[in-house]
Amino acid sequence: MAKGLDIGTMNIICAEKEGEDVVFMQQRNAFMNLDSSDLTKNMLDISKVLYIEEEKGISLLGEDAFKFATIFEKEARRPMSHGIISPREKEAIPIMKLIVERVLGQPRSKNEVLYISTPANPVDTDMDVLYHKKTMEALARGLNYDTHVIDEGLAVIYSELSDYNFTGIGISVGAGLTNVTLAYLGTPLMSFSIGRGGDWIDEQVSKSTGLPKEHVTHRKEQISKLSKQVKIGSPDGAITIYYNALVTYIVQNLNKRLAEITPPKVAFPVVVAGGSALPEGFFEMFEKNLRESKLRVEISKIKRARDPLYTVARGCLIAAKTQEEGKRRAGPSLTEQKVEGKTEKKKAQKKSK
Ligand SMILES: Nc1ncnc2c1ncn2[C@@H]1O[C@H](COP(=O)(O)OP(=O)(O)OP(=O)(O)O)[C@@H](O)[C@H]1O
Ligand SMILES: [Mg+2]
Repeated sequence: MAKGLDIGTMNIICAEKEGEDVVFMQQRNAFMNLDSSDLTKNMLDISKVLYIEEEKGISLLGEDAFKFATIFEKEARRPMSHGIISPREKEAIPIMKLIVERVLGQPRSKNEVLYISTPANPVDTDMDVLYHKKTMEALARGLNYDTHVIDEGLAVIYSELSDYNFTGIGISVGAGLTNVTLAYLGTPLMSFSIGRGGDWIDEQVSKSTGLPKEHVTHRKEQISKLSKQVKIGSPDGAITIYYNALVTYIVQNLNKRLAEITPPKVAFPVVVAGGSALPEGFFEMFEKNLRESKLRVEISKIKRARDPLYTVARGCLIAAKTQEEGKRRAGPSLTEQKVEGKTEKKKAQKKSK
């Protein structure tokens, strides 16, 4: 038994195998305070909303916090910002502990192996990920898992590039950050993050159009396709403009960092994952930008992850299964680990209290 956990600024996702299937459990990494009254509590119980009672009132957790924030036109509070525990949010750690407990559940065996994702240090902001990484590791250990940490970009490579012997460039375009790793035969040669992702798009569109940020996020997640032609004056037009700016910025930073290393002279496949890579048209935008950028390494293929939101969690699970196999017999072999599953099931967030 083994599990993978993607701890992200917007989503916390657990991957595990159930028989032949890979099952994902997901929650938004968010919460929202409500005034406590019996009526509210009864309503929340009936509708099976996830919440906790505190002295000051009630905190809704996860997906429900996000939904209610949009309905009440309040801001959902976020325990993490820019890929790490938010220094501005006093309740960040206890709230995340609850969400992680809910998503992860109890270990199914003694010393069950767990891999959790962690971001790489950003190249464009003065931020260090060590405190976040160590805190999350301790939190998972406290739940009695044999916990290990894996770089988010490497998890993308583990998930998507087994056919390439885990050689390539893995990119996760998330909410708070974009993580990038270049690996050769499963060994990372370069890892970094960029302080921009989906949240940056939401902030810029909100500033430009005057729409509240939550509305922009909602609109962006509903958008069916990023249009090639920008519709002037529309929120969708602004979303496309900032998507374009984000992609250009990621490719520029990738090229800058590649200039600082001497990678092996092989052609690298590139794989793009993360929730922000979901809208139709994003991959084409990314591919065009990358092809036109005269990258400093040869690119063999540019690939969209098969299920961008769940890629990092699946990569963490593959790492955990590899480790577990290694415990059983000497010399774990990454290439033997294919956590494919006949079908993949996604469990929505657990709604019961
Ligand atoms: N269907 C969708 N269309 C567009 N964007 C989406 C969609 N679904 C989710 N997103 C965006 O994807 C981002 C979340 O992606 P993801 O879960 O990969 O990030 P994360 O892992 O939580 O964050 P990070 O890795 O930066 O800490 C958010 O900005 C969210 O608004
Ligand atoms: Mg992420």
